[in-house]
Amino acid sequence: MPSSELPILVTCGLPYANGPCHIGHLRTYVPADIYVRGLKKMGKGPIFICGSDSHGTPIVVNAEERGTTPTELVTRYHDHFDDVFKRMEVEFDYFGNTDDPSNHSRTQSIVEALMGEGYVYPQEIQLAYCPSCDRFLPDRYVEGTCPYCKSPARGDECDQGCGRHLEPGEIEEPLCKVCGSEAEYRTQKHYFFRLSDFSDFLIDYLEGLGGTSNARNYALEWVKQELKDWCITRNLEWGVKFPGQEGLVVYVWVDAPIGYISFTEEWAKRSGGSWESYWKKPSRIVHFIGGDIVYHHCIFWSAMLKGASYTLPSAVVASGMLKIDNKTFSKSRGYVVWVIDDYLEKGLHPDLLRYYLASYTSHTKELNFSWTVFGEKVNGELVGALGNFVNRAATFTTKNFDQTIPEGDLDPEVTSKIEATLAEVKAALDEYEFKKLVDGAMSLADYGNTYFQANEPWKLAKTDRARCGAVLRNCLQIAKALSIMLQPVMPAKMESAWKQLGLEGTAAEALFDDALVPVEAGRRLGVPEHIFDKMDDSMVSDLDEVFRARIAAIEAKKGEKKSEDKMSTIKFEDFKNLDIRVGVVLEAESIKGSNKLLRLIVDIGSEERQIVAGIAMTHSPEDLVGRQIVVLANLEPAKLFGVESRGMLLAADMGDSAVLLTPEKAVPPGSKIR
Ligand code: 2FM
Ligand code: ZN
Repeated sequence: MPSSELPILVTCGLPYANGPCHIGHLRTYVPADIYVRGLKKMGKGPIFICGSDSHGTPIVVNAEERGTTPTELVTRYHDHFDDVFKRMEVEFDYFGNTDDPSNHSRTQSIVEALMGEGYVYPQEIQLAYCPSCDRFLPDRYVEGTCPYCKSPARGDECDQGCGRHLEPGEIEEPLCKVCGSEAEYRTQKHYFFRLSDFSDFLIDYLEGLGGTSNARNYALEWVKQELKDWCITRNLEWGVKFPGQEGLVVYVWVDAPIGYISFTEEWAKRSGGSWESYWKKPSRIVHFIGGDIVYHHCIFWSAMLKGASYTLPSAVVASGMLKIDNKTFSKSRGYVVWVIDDYLEKGLHPDLLRYYLASYTSHTKELNFSWTVFGEKVNGELVGALGNFVNRAATFTTKNFDQTIPEGDLDPEVTSKIEATLAEVKAALDEYEFKKLVDGAMSLADYGNTYFQANEPWKLAKTDRARCGAVLRNCLQIAKALSIMLQPVMPAKMESAWKQLGLEGTAAEALFDDALVPVEAGRRLGVPEHIFDKMDDSMVSDLDEVFRARIAAIEAKKGEKKSEDKMSTIKFEDFKNLDIRVGVVLEAESIKGSNKLLRLIVDIGSEERQIVAGIAMTHSPEDLVGRQIVVLANLEPAKLFGVESRGMLLAADMGDSAVLLTPEKAVPPGSKIR
């Protein structure tokens, strides 16, 4: 079979079912979806497979911390990812779960095949063991120091230092993550995959691997250094049982990629297709992954497939880093955009973010997300250039030609501009360069605007109606071509453009080459309307504010923690300087515009004080009047919501509620606390 006719399977790295979807995930999934939609437009019939990665110690640790079970946790996040992908128009043919029975059995069958070939052997190794929990500590259960770069490291990776994968037993100065005790090393039998046997094969294979050069080159460098055999078992209950060994499961990086195969099997069961035509016969398998998991895909996974006689991937496409507001993406520091809460729930259309992710930079380069750039791109590129052009062509035709595509020849210059753009778009897809695809199409939109402007159809309408009609037909042809070329990037928006242009079928069904099929004179257009809405400045700054407030809250918490740590002891002199007294609430009322604050007038013995307290969520003003409270009286005054506060009411901080401190029995107002 010529390689252009091989069946094509596209996959995306499986998200851990361990937390909500963020923009970092979409940086891989959206381009993969664009690629699949683009292949369809080239007349190919790829299948697109993904699913939840449900095993591994972080999930067990997280479930334990939340007082739930791993099954409950992964079901919740599996459903969440499935929902987000649908809402973001990332359309998998099958979205599976690595805890499904089919993945357990495919994994066991592959491990047995590797054992049968002599690629798996047992070996006694030294493993971190916690004497107080009385258990071995696999992966995330242990923390310590990276033996290579001496950075703090967790379990199976040096995530704050050199980024290396760490084998069990490698971490130095191990501590138990559960109880914090010093762990010791004890001997236990585990199973190893003879990765080192695959060095020569991998060098050959990787040299011919398609996809992006970052994946190929990193992997080649690692293989050329040294490949160590790979421990593929763990002491854990949660996971796929290692054949014949009670109490051992396979390492998550064994059963996770095997999900690609078992999900294809599930897809085949439902669709009547054949999974073997992808995994047992020559095919074109393209993996889209994050840049941080190149090692696992290019080295572990390829060697496993080779060892068990499955089809090897043809291409690995690795996305570049993500920054948020020019800072390294970090969930814990707040440099994150949550897809549901921060984006979809704000009423933003999925296509705008898809456009941003595809057009900001090359797929392998660093992508920076900021709401300001988002607003600029929407207003300048989508509203100003693309939307404006399609709208002008449709509105002008509607007004002057009774909403009908006029007669008139297509200008050779227009046809050749569309042809050239089509060639660019197709080449961009072949190179996994989604920015090039968008740039090509957007330069056609700019050309369209210039063409409209230069031909002045508003003048021609009065002087040369036939030429006016021809100009508009050319514009409608360009608009059709744009809807087709940009449909993979913005499926819903381009469908709405397609409808307005009154074209037959759907933008989704149209092939790239249909961009050159002339629009039919005499066809009726749909009702023209703006495809994209302008974002006003206040909308952009509101979105930005949510993001900044989150970072500020995290910083403040850290600050509190630091000062708590620092304040572990203070001098008695310092304490004596605090004027803490009992007061009686004389008046209490809510503060307009704030749902958190109350304004209190408090008798503190020597005077009546106005104090603003953040207790409105837990206390009603009527319940406070007459109550004795405790006040820090010599705190410097501050304005809260425009109201001056002179002093602070003391309460136990319970996170989202406050419990007031009160004296054991009534005392005169102003009584000092010592
Ligand atoms: O790094 C990750 O997020 C993994 N859950 C990716 C797994 S991809 C595949 F190999 F299964
Ligand atoms: Zn390291």
